[in-house]
Amino acid sequence: MKRLYIETYGCQMNVADGQLVESILSQEGYVQCKTPDEADLILINTCSIRQHAEERAIARMRELTSFKRKRPGLRVGMIGCMATWNKEKIFDAVPLLDFIAGPDSYRKLPALIEQATENNSHPMDVILSTVETYEDIIPHHEAKGVSAFVSIMRGCNNFCAYCVVPYTRGRERSRSVPSILEEIHHLVELEYKEVTLLGQNVNSYNWKEPNKEWDFPALLARIAQEFPMLRIRFATSHPKDASLQLVETMASYPNIARSIHLPLQSGSNDVLKRMHRHYTLETYKEKIDWFRKFMPDITISTDIIVGYSGETEDDHRATMQAMREIHFFYAYMFKYSERPGTLASKKYPDDVPDEVKTRRLEEIIHLQQQLSYEHNLQDIGKLYDVLIEGVSKKNPNKWYGRTSQNKVVVFSEPTAHIGDFVKVKITSVTPATLLGEPYKDK
Ligand code: SAH
Ligand code: SF4
Ligand code: F3S
Repeated sequence: MKRLYIETYGCQMNVADGQLVESILSQEGYVQCKTPDEADLILINTCSIRQHAEERAIARMRELTSFKRKRPGLRVGMIGCMATWNKEKIFDAVPLLDFIAGPDSYRKLPALIEQATENNSHPMDVILSTVETYEDIIPHHEAKGVSAFVSIMRGCNNFCAYCVVPYTRGRERSRSVPSILEEIHHLVELEYKEVTLLGQNVNSYNWKEPNKEWDFPALLARIAQEFPMLRIRFATSHPKDASLQLVETMASYPNIARSIHLPLQSGSNDVLKRMHRHYTLETYKEKIDWFRKFMPDITISTDIIVGYSGETEDDHRATMQAMREIHFFYAYMFKYSERPGTLASKKYPDDVPDEVKTRRLEEIIHLQQQLSYEHNLQDIGKLYDVLIEGVSKKNPNKWYGRTSQNKVVVFSEPTAHIGDFVKVKITSVTPATLLGEPYKDK
């Protein structure tokens, strides 16, 4: 028996890819282990989105490759986005690394591992594909889980000026409808209660049959019909491609979660233009109005970047104003990190000083905390169906779960189990969490 340890960084797509790699290597006799100390093979599944992410991964890879001194048979490989982004340069930074494989090269992993074992030759495969979707491989999913990721497409064609993803993951391609349904059937057999459909821009999902073309709303409707008991989420949607048809489809099926992640990035049209995002604040807000008109209880979360090239104090204030007006319930917030090789690095100088970026980031984090708290306060007294995901970290006698709106709820219900849906009445809130008690219909 060979033991495999995978450590994953980055986005949900990388998490799903880690499960895909587990499945590919289980065919080769590898069994997953929980710590690097027991492993025969360590894989670091990396992310290149910001410089900080890469620096952390390099430090961690140095640490993990140092285990080889004591255990000569151990092999350590790098997979994920840093493979296609850094290529062989990574061997200068982490000399003891054995091999690297990019996101479209995971079928070659067994061969790369073998080469690395035979002759210490630092083999690598970082070629990007225009067709690979791994659709014939069902990723490894834990038995009896609650919520799973299902990748529906790979790559990205958007080339937002600041972003590495189109370079690290290549062109956009969609997986076939039957292969997606098959994976979800498998998850239902494993008693999963929720799936999140994944792609960098799920709204451009497109798969052709001889007589039919499937877009994202069609796929979503099909899944919602075939799996009425599953809660269905998806991420991420690019605002420029969010359509009225998507809104109508979501509103038609109660099992599609009442929550959408729609990255705004900036509230200034000048900044959005330099980011090459292809929407304005006005068109973004118009789309938010559609979602709220059709689904008054929907929550909207977002991503914001501060300190992008040329961002002025006025631009920053426009972002804060937009956050207030749209009233996001949650936001992921980042300082702009210039990535060499992207369009922004060539055309738009990284000219906002780091201390200004830090201050702006603190300001928006503070604002979002307030907004999240206000948003949560409005839930007091309301009833929600909560899907129990696990035991609360702070209080082992309580469950934590999520509403369809993607809000975390903590409550106690001694007769319930992980994976149950429980009706909960919200009694109090914190900025991050709703607290409640089970609601019994009299
Ligand atoms: N495909 C998704 C996002 C993928 S990356 C989308 O377009 O919505 C997740 C988030 O990381 C982005 O939304 C953006 O806010 C942030 N991000 C991407 N590149 C970045 C960079 N160079 N510096 C800082 N944040 C970045
Ligand atoms: Fe990056 Fe833009 Fe593609 Fe998202 S849509 S992955 S931000 S290029
Ligand atoms: Fe990172 Fe690659 Fe995802 S760069 S955010 S792991 S697509």
